Amino acid sequence: MDNDNITHALEMVDLSKFTPNMLYETAKDIMEQLVDFKEIRMMYSCAIKEIRTKFEVLDTEFNSRYQRNPISSITSRLKSNKSILGKLSRKGLDFSIENIENNIHDIAGVRVVCSYVDDIYVLADALISQNDITLIKRKDYITNPKPNGYRSLHLIVSVPVFFAEQTKQMQVEVQIRTIAMDYWASLEHQLKYKKDVPEEADVIERLKNCADTIANLDKEMIDIRNQLALGTDDKTEDDVLFEKMKRLNISFD
Ligand code: GTP
Ligand code: MG
Repeated sequence: MDNDNITHALEMVDLSKFTPNMLYETAKDIMEQLVDFKEIRMMYSCAIKEIRTKFEVLDTEFNSRYQRNPISSITSRLKSNKSILGKLSRKGLDFSIENIENNIHDIAGVRVVCSYVDDIYVLADALISQNDITLIKRKDYITNPKPNGYRSLHLIVSVPVFFAEQTKQMQVEVQIRTIAMDYWASLEHQLKYKKDVPEEADVIERLKNCADTIANLDKEMIDIRNQLALGTDDKTEDDVLFEKMKRLNISFD
């Protein structure tokens, strides 16, 4: 609700019907709800940090061990207040912290973008197998793309976050996709916000064709990468040890 809407809403309330005490109690209730809401947003932003760190650790480990980075980029976002209110009202739910926590699973969102499709599953499995992670939901839109061509692996996970006076289980939505899938999704996403798209059916069909092309491209990239890796198997034990030594470039001091 923006300021104009709030002013308009207040104008419709007959304040003469409220005693000063009722007004005070109502204002206090609203303030308390706002404080709780700000606090829960802070907690979700901490949950994002926990999940980001887990992926950063995996990427560092891969870089050090195999001299390659499975992750191209990590982005994250906290769902806006407007989107939270919109989602609650679409679900027919009142505004309460309990309703938010039990019904909105994407307040904290982390998007991991990889170069290769097989790394998506390696990273997802590595995350899910961690002791403190509970998998709530897994949707594989790569094996089963959406009809419009959307592909990505979606996970809803729960992670404990350690605060000064409590440990809280927080849900985070993780989307893992390739650079090509991300490129496609960012263009397709614009369709949602555009009204009166000229020749919309044509745009939808062309996007679907692009999604198919991208799926083939992702497959081809893995094949080429694997082909390039061939021929490196004839290393001696000493070669492997020497390479490991070179890769683990962590300083000793
Ligand atoms: P919400 O869409 O968040 O209400 O949840 P849902 O239960 O339908 O989840 P789903 O896993 O299908 O989608 C969650 C998120 O994935 C969305 O908010 C988008 O960020 C992304 N996503 C899903 N489908 C599409 C799509 O067709 N195109 C694009 N660009 N993004 C999508
Ligand atoms: Mg969402």
